[in-house]
Amino acid sequence: MTSLTVVIDADPGTDDAIGILVALGHADLELRGVTTVGGNAAVDVTTDNALRLLSAVDRPVPVFAGCATPLGARERFGHGFLARPHRPGRDREGLGLPPTSRRAEDVSAVDFLIDTFTGEQAANAVLVATGPLTNVASALLRRPDLARSLRRLVVMGGARGQGNVTPSADFNFWADPEAARVVLRAGLPDVVLFPLDATRSAPLTESDCVAIERSGHVGALAADIIRSRMPTRAADGSVPDPATTATVHDALCTAHLVAPVLQASERCEVDVDTSESGRRGTSVMKRASGRDSPGVEVALRARSDILARTIGAATRRMSADGTPTGASSR
Ligand code: RIB
Ligand code: CA
Repeated sequence: MTSLTVVIDADPGTDDAIGILVALGHADLELRGVTTVGGNAAVDVTTDNALRLLSAVDRPVPVFAGCATPLGARERFGHGFLARPHRPGRDREGLGLPPTSRRAEDVSAVDFLIDTFTGEQAANAVLVATGPLTNVASALLRRPDLARSLRRLVVMGGARGQGNVTPSADFNFWADPEAARVVLRAGLPDVVLFPLDATRSAPLTESDCVAIERSGHVGALAADIIRSRMPTRAADGSVPDPATTATVHDALCTAHLVAPVLQASERCEVDVDTSESGRRGTSVMKRASGRDSPGVEVALRARSDILARTIGAATRRMSADGTPTGASSR
């Protein structure tokens, strides 16, 4: 099988990090670059997190720093209203990886996306977007012809039910609803959307972490990152409660490229509320009327067993390469 060229546009972020590891470790994927955006933290932090992760697993994939400010607001990501609420028991600063001397490329994320997804090389390339959609929307606004040449896009965003940052909005769409709307209205030919309901249907357990950990040193790093997403831990903070699970939203988008994690989906017309009301960032999904109507494929349910196996296979392959991780243990 010819490998698929992948670019990940992300705001790492622990779940973004697992998505990046899947892309690095799968034989059928070639990770061409990571573009970063503000989101889970300010863009300088998400960029540094991406660089630390790639250094820890010794992969020389280039990182391109992207937008610090959403399209529809002057406030910077990671500051004030746009700061991610702190969740008890989580590492506020990021992944807990050692510093790296690596730096982002001189090319901006938006320029890199335009270069990669125009021209002949775009034919076999797929974009996975797991942060606010600011970089992707900026590229489309600058080069509207990208709407034809960006043939495949997989997005984590939106929610049919309960949100995670307001009662109805998921973080990615809420952080830049204007950008999400630009992307969803661009008429891209092949968009798959993983909203919160689908990602929450595929939580990973402590036994999944144990299996992933057994795949080697990269698996140990991945398991450590996944466990850091488990909301409740044993009283001493060291041993995860076996009953807890972790939702690893963004990893599903990359796993979807190589494994049948998507259990059920339906074609929908999707819009995003850009009002200044309490519904800002809420996705509005309506089943598309026919095969030819505009729309995106919206995931309804996903398979946690396949997700866990896909992460384990990717980390096993990377561990077999023998490169030690520079990961600190937490
Ligand atoms: O709503 C889920 C999204 O926001 C994910 O991309 C995750 O990284 C988060 O912060
Ligand atoms: Ca993310």
